[in-house]
Amino acid sequence: MGNTYKIAVIPGDGTGPEVIKEGVKVLDAAASKFGFDLDMTWYDYGGDRYLKTGEVLPEGAAEDLKQYKAIYLGAIGHPDVKPGILEKGILLALRFALDQYINLRPVILYPGVDTPLKDKGPEDINFVVVRENTEGLYAGAGGVLKKGTPDEVAVQESINTRKGVERCIRYAYEYCRKRNQKKTLTLCGKTNVLTFAFDLWERAFYEIGEEYPDIKKEYAHVDATCMWMVKNPEWFDVIVTDNMFGDIITDLGAMIQGGMGIAAGGNINPEGVSMFEPIGGSAPKYTGKNVINPLAAICAGQMMLDYLGEEDAAKAVEDAVKKAVSQDLKSLSAGKMGYSTTEVGDLVAGYVKEAS
Ligand code: IPM
Ligand code: MN
Repeated sequence: MGNTYKIAVIPGDGTGPEVIKEGVKVLDAAASKFGFDLDMTWYDYGGDRYLKTGEVLPEGAAEDLKQYKAIYLGAIGHPDVKPGILEKGILLALRFALDQYINLRPVILYPGVDTPLKDKGPEDINFVVVRENTEGLYAGAGGVLKKGTPDEVAVQESINTRKGVERCIRYAYEYCRKRNQKKTLTLCGKTNVLTFAFDLWERAFYEIGEEYPDIKKEYAHVDATCMWMVKNPEWFDVIVTDNMFGDIITDLGAMIQGGMGIAAGGNINPEGVSMFEPIGGSAPKYTGKNVINPLAAICAGQMMLDYLGEEDAAKAVEDAVKKAVSQDLKSLSAGKMGYSTTEVGDLVAGYVKEAS
């Protein structure tokens, strides 16, 4: 008998439940094929629950989620809820409470998928961003004075702790070594302007780097990183960066790998509970139409399998996704795939079952 993994599923808002349903279909196919069990418990956290109960996460929610091995999340964001409430109250709250200090975002262009970058193909777009996920500008430090007056002052500070920076950088070096491709880790920062925060990052990067003589070290400012991601994405292997820069460059990354239909990420606590999600939003206008692309959610599921240690199953899901995008799907955009949401799930689950 294989292992049993306890998984919390939070489908969330908008098209979240539709894509998670297809993700679960594929995960179940992988579990039966590769001989392990996924014991899933569903949670209704999201905008609808908030509108009904006035509460974003119930008391003790994060504590309760600690009993699981991983969390599988759809999307958070509801058109009737003011922006910020659900994002901060659910997504960021869980990242912080569960100390998911890494946000791992592969930027991989699969064969057959269109990229907006002219003359670039799958051999050029294949890197991973390791984004710090619990500090920086997201820490919530700062405040506002004289709000609503002409003298208003708003301060939002970036918090960078030696411990937080160090564990992120160490994770990135380890990841780069394990990935075993170009063996190059690029620190993305802004040492020419943010001379306190990125001085700390830069010193930690080279100091810890001494333990990784096999890894080549590079540095790029964040603005230049954006430029190179478009002009020469093939230069990158693993990029490590802070929370805010990581947020921005991974949306750019998602676009060059084929869009939000395929981009997935993991919020990782290597010693605790990690959470996997498609990185696009809840796309409320497509809700219930069976047209949204579930591949990003399926790829998030694949990352979760890898994290659980079910590497063969993860590989089979990745191969199945590659097969679907190269042979079947006409486009990765909602409504233009040539297949419905549920049909894409069936297709990928079918390929997983056929895996050898
Ligand atoms: C992401 C999202 C979130 C972030 C939002 C929804 C709070 O954009 O996961 O990248 O900024 O981290
Ligand atoms: Mn983002």
